[in-house]
Amino acid sequence: MFFHVQKLINEIVPDEPDPFAANALQEGLGGQFGEMRTMMQYLFQSFNARGDATPFKDLIQGVGVEEISHVELITTTINHLLDGSSRYRGKSGKAGPRNGRSEVPGARGSTPLERALEVPNIHHMLVAPQTALPVDSAGNPWLGSYVYASGNLTLDLLYNLMLEATGRLQKCRLYEMSSNKTFRATVSFLIVRDHAHEMVFAKALEALGVNWGKTLPIPNFDATQYPEVNKLMNQGVHLQQHHFRLDGSEMGKIFQGPAPTGDGSMLETQDEPPEGVSYDGLSERLEEFSPGLSPELQELVEATKRMSPPMRGEESSVTSPRRNGGSKSGRRRKPSRV
Ligand SMILES: [Fe+2]
Repeated sequence: MFFHVQKLINEIVPDEPDPFAANALQEGLGGQFGEMRTMMQYLFQSFNARGDATPFKDLIQGVGVEEISHVELITTTINHLLDGSSRYRGKSGKAGPRNGRSEVPGARGSTPLERALEVPNIHHMLVAPQTALPVDSAGNPWLGSYVYASGNLTLDLLYNLMLEATGRLQKCRLYEMSSNKTFRATVSFLIVRDHAHEMVFAKALEALGVNWGKTLPIPNFDATQYPEVNKLMNQGVHLQQHHFRLDGSEMGKIFQGPAPTGDGSMLETQDEPPEGVSYDGLSERLEEFSPGLSPELQELVEATKRMSPPMRGEESSVTSPRRNGGSKSGRRRKPSRV
């Protein structure tokens, strides 16, 4: 079972809306090598694991749980790049305000969604209310057949390393497509986390006898030339991995010691969950009829918000997992950057 905290795993840096950058980022969400693929692939591999190779299962599942947060982060980033893009006029023009009650729907025959006819994917404004879709940058729907979970541990780890390396390659290409700060902050974070995940699967294959020589990371170049990436790597974000288990994990038996890059850097498995970044969510968009609450429905929403939660003793049987166990290792660390 899984728990969640209403925070993002990395911050959304504000900049103007850009439906073209948003559409490029769809590849990182719903593409063949995107975050939906990594999430589903690692979760299926761990759910379907056979035998007693527990440290390897913990390692795959820990990364899989992190990928849920990556899907959330990249979806939210696409949302911010799209939100208000109905009035985007390009770099030389003036974009409208990002949020708020921006347009009266179709008042006096106006066309507040006219821009939908020019953006890369009309579905961003026609099917969705200026928000992300589970598709790639060419509009192809995400496919379950992308998921590779053969049940052969070595093969699965090899494929996972290829998946992370291809994800990092595509994100490096994405970085070079747009200087939008919202876009680049998330792409940079994912470049660095893909680096860490390359280390995770390479280290697991090392434990099975592989010697990587000078192969890693892929693509093999100086990523610190990207300022946002450099900042994260200086914090060691590419060398850390949370296991995301509240009841103790054996991931640290594998993800520790020298990094497979052979550059003298050291890997660290972290018991504590990431701190996360608070996030306010999206405002309503009247021209998209989203959330589409009439005054009467809005009053019912407000009444619901005013309702009191159940008193202690009326609670359901669900209790805090921390009260039930906590870390098996007993080690407590401060929440860290990732
Ligand atoms: Fe990811």
